[in-house]
Amino acid sequence: MTTSVIIDCDPGHDDALALLLAVGDPRVDLLGVTTVAGNQTLDKTTRNAQRILALAGAEKIPVAAGADRPLVGDLTVAEDIHGASGLDGPELDLPVADVAGVHAIELMRRLITDAAEPVTLIATGPLTNVALLLRTHPRLTRQIRHIVFMGGSTERGNTTPYGEFNIVTDPEAADIVLRSGLPLTMIGLNVTHQALATTEIIAEFQGMGTRLGSVCAELMTFFAGAYRRNFGFGHPPVHDPVAVAAVIDPEIVRRETVNVTVELAGAYTRGATVADLHRRTKREPNADVAVSLDVDAFWRLLMAAVRTVSTANTAG
Ligand code: RIB
Ligand code: CA
Repeated sequence: MTTSVIIDCDPGHDDALALLLAVGDPRVDLLGVTTVAGNQTLDKTTRNAQRILALAGAEKIPVAAGADRPLVGDLTVAEDIHGASGLDGPELDLPVADVAGVHAIELMRRLITDAAEPVTLIATGPLTNVALLLRTHPRLTRQIRHIVFMGGSTERGNTTPYGEFNIVTDPEAADIVLRSGLPLTMIGLNVTHQALATTEIIAEFQGMGTRLGSVCAELMTFFAGAYRRNFGFGHPPVHDPVAVAAVIDPEIVRRETVNVTVELAGAYTRGATVADLHRRTKREPNADVAVSLDVDAFWRLLMAAVRTVSTANTAG
């Protein structure tokens, strides 16, 4: 059984692995990829999405660029984490596939409208495009099965003490999504920080003996240096593929159905996700919040998918 999926992303080292997981796992029918400004500027996140799809031999999957800034305020990219290109580390060939000649919101509308079944949206960047889609085409919600987003945290943040990058970048967009009434799953730092690309994982990428395997090893080596320098992590957490894995195998995360809000006005906490895990407020539950991850199952899933893509494109 396959799931029809659109991925909205801001590649980004971990977004790249999320795309490879979606391309390589047979349970995902990746209808299209849309890009948003976040880790880097929109032109760079879009070019990076094209590069990864081209490397994976998936140039036929349509790519469309979306919002180049958050709904409110200015964009602050994560150059300290993902580098000037947004995918620093490997030398990547320039993309071969053109971007779709439409805005991301229009591509999403077309794909969702034409899909044979309701579509699952997986967001691994700021939620700007998803919020714009819900506001521009409110009647489409009937054909959206589920929104799974990598963002937020039930604990501390990574961009501010209590704010995670994707949500802090566009809190208003997150608020629109959290109030949408659609089935939501939040994959926060509290679980993604368990998905660490260890030296053994990097060696396994390299051991694939393919261009794609080497690119993944080089991406993770750069990512490891960035996380060591910025956070003192021994290994880098690959946040975004956890959201894709949770769609492929829902059992890979344990969830609590609770109320999640986002702080919009806090002087020190703007962009913090407030997950009422102990149900202390009377606010209605509106999201499934991941609270634990089957780490071994996650890596088995991801490495199998990358190996599939890798061997299918021996040149890739
Ligand atoms: O906070 C981690 C998230 O922000 C990941 O999606 C990473 O790619 C960045 O977008
Ligand atoms: Ca991302």
